[in-house]
Amino acid sequence: MTDQSPPRFPPDFLFGTATAAYQIEGAAREGGRGPSIWDTYSRTPGKVARGESGDVACDHYHRYEEDVALLKELGVDTYRFSIAWPRVIPDGAGEVNPEGLAFYGGLVDALREAGIEPVATLYHWDLPQALEDGGGWRVRSTAHHFAAYARVVADHLGDRVERWITLNEPHCTAFVGHAVGRHAPGTREGTPALAVAQHLLLAHGLAARELRASAAEHGRKAEVGITLNPDRLLPATDSAEDAAAVDRAETLHNRVWLDPLLRGVYPDNEEETWGPMADGGYREPEDLSIIAQPLDFLGLNFYRPIRLRDAPIPEGPDRTAVDIGVEEVPIEGVRHTTMGWPVVPSSFTDLLVDLHRRYPELPPIHITENGSAEPDEPGPDGVVHDTDRIDYLRDHLGALSDAIAAGVDVRGYFVWSLLDNFEWAYGYERRFGIVSVDYETLTRTPKDSYHWYRDLVREHKRRR
Ligand code: NOJ
Repeated sequence: MTDQSPPRFPPDFLFGTATAAYQIEGAAREGGRGPSIWDTYSRTPGKVARGESGDVACDHYHRYEEDVALLKELGVDTYRFSIAWPRVIPDGAGEVNPEGLAFYGGLVDALREAGIEPVATLYHWDLPQALEDGGGWRVRSTAHHFAAYARVVADHLGDRVERWITLNEPHCTAFVGHAVGRHAPGTREGTPALAVAQHLLLAHGLAARELRASAAEHGRKAEVGITLNPDRLLPATDSAEDAAAVDRAETLHNRVWLDPLLRGVYPDNEEETWGPMADGGYREPEDLSIIAQPLDFLGLNFYRPIRLRDAPIPEGPDRTAVDIGVEEVPIEGVRHTTMGWPVVPSSFTDLLVDLHRRYPELPPIHITENGSAEPDEPGPDGVVHDTDRIDYLRDHLGALSDAIAAGVDVRGYFVWSLLDNFEWAYGYERRFGIVSVDYETLTRTPKDSYHWYRDLVREHKRRR
């Protein structure tokens, strides 16, 4: 860390924070909410650390007004939250639950009263369990059910929400959920995981059409995007083998989403990446034209770079969609967060500049997540003095402003996260919030990073 001054951004650049329903809401059995795959997964022994779940989480469902007050005091322009599909349509298809819609209506109204623009994500991993029981994302009908759900939400909230994100990090759903097995539903599959990827892309395209049709019908505005987590992938050595391994990983992590969404094509090296697993049996000829809807913006989540080397490809029936002959190699000589993730801010600039160069079709970008998990011991004053998180945020904002200076069109930035929350399989121990949550009392206490971010946003607004 050399430069301590906060970076500057264009006057209309938006600052916000982000959360997701299952990670903060709690009230898992209230308000008519149906069960999701994360309820099932976290209640399965051995899946989530310490047997934790999102049953109570931050109890945001009952405390959202307090959380909106924290956002208002923070001074952010915008707030990204997710809508739980099983709260709105408990079985995933069919009957709509008015109490679920009313909850999000209340949240959105409170945000707007506080002068904060709501950005709603329609899917942040909490698939209704009833749909999983019928095949989940492995089957095409789930994409159509998702579009119907998107339409219900847009009709109800579209008068107060203009910016929509269809899916959050479909890479994690398809590959961490269905191949690594560390996210719900927690399976280790081959071709079906690739079918999941296809159906997620299709779900995005179908939902984008519904969001726009709803807006057109009601004479409203709607901006539609999707949030991806493209990875900055670095070869461990300059060998041809490692370069080929990175090419395969580029397809698994990045191109599988970006090529169809931005160019209406499938990656041209699927065969090298997945061999016979990529049999394409899950595709229909019209899919690409549905998937490649114009995007008003692209949401990107970024945390760390990944270093890879070539590794043997396991053959046989146990091969999963992530078994593509690559192995992660630790990045040494830099700080690591409590996720074990290396802190390399320049890789954020490199990723953005590289995407900009490779995809001239890129729409404007919003950084829909960035942040760090830190040990966060409260001081004697009861406050978390999280200088490491402040350094992380400052350095990544600096890297972002370098990318903007290099010509990348980035319009907004959301800190992950407003609150400490349920960090999926890692449970509550990994803390990403700029506000700390005491999980015994559910008391919220702003950390130093909250005050630092508030000052940065204030200064930005002063200069506008
Ligand atoms: C990305 C996910 O969208 C979010 O839910 C998660 O908590 C953060 N990464 C941190 O791992």
